Amino acid sequence: MLIRKLKKDERPPMTLLLLADPSRSLIEDYIKSGECFLAEAAGQVIGVYVLLSTKPKTVELVNLAVDEHFQGKGLGKHLVNDAIRVAKAMGYRRFEVATGNSSLGPLALYQKCGFRIIEVEHDYFVKHYSEVIIENGMRCMDRVWLSLEL
Ligand SMILES: CC(C)(COP(=O)(O)OP(=O)(O)OC[C@H]1O[C@@H](n2cnc3c(N)ncnc32)[C@H](O)[C@@H]1OP(=O)(O)O)[C@@H](O)C(=O)NCCC(=O)NCCS
Repeated sequence: MLIRKLKKDERPPMTLLLLADPSRSLIEDYIKSGECFLAEAAGQVIGVYVLLSTKPKTVELVNLAVDEHFQGKGLGKHLVNDAIRVAKAMGYRRFEVATGNSSLGPLALYQKCGFRIIEVEHDYFVKHYSEVIIENGMRCMDRVWLSLEL
């Protein structure tokens, strides 16, 4: 498996990116200003992550997704650890990520990679998304921020 940067003239893997973020327009925005990395195996894109510089010395993991056929095999953790390595190499000091209160998998994954919960924005998903999001039998309502000092 190879992890590489999306080339300037290459189309982003929209189907994969939409697994992590239902907003196509938001994805198109952050793909333009961020750095997109692809995980490839046998010429097929099986994972993606996107880094976006947000504040001085701070980078955010704005998208992380693994193809459904390849989930649960350690690739998500491998990509988060690769993103941490890349962020450090780019000189960032703080790494942030946000997810939903009902996203139990990502909440476990980020904490297993060293991130700590720093803030909860109550009702973020109620206010900003028109559709009701249900995951793991729970309504996704609150945005949970996690961070890692690099
Ligand atoms: C989230 C996602 C990237 C994880 O990728 P993955 O390849 O399936 O993850 P991994 O196999 O590397 O597993 C990650 C870790 O989280 C743990 N984990 C996952 N779900 C868990 C749960 N419900 N409870 C506890 N631990 C859980 C796994 O056990 C694993 O830890 P381990 O290595 O110590 O066993 C993938 O499921 C995905 O693309 N989901 C859709 C998009 C998405 O939700 N993106 C995140 C947006 S914030």
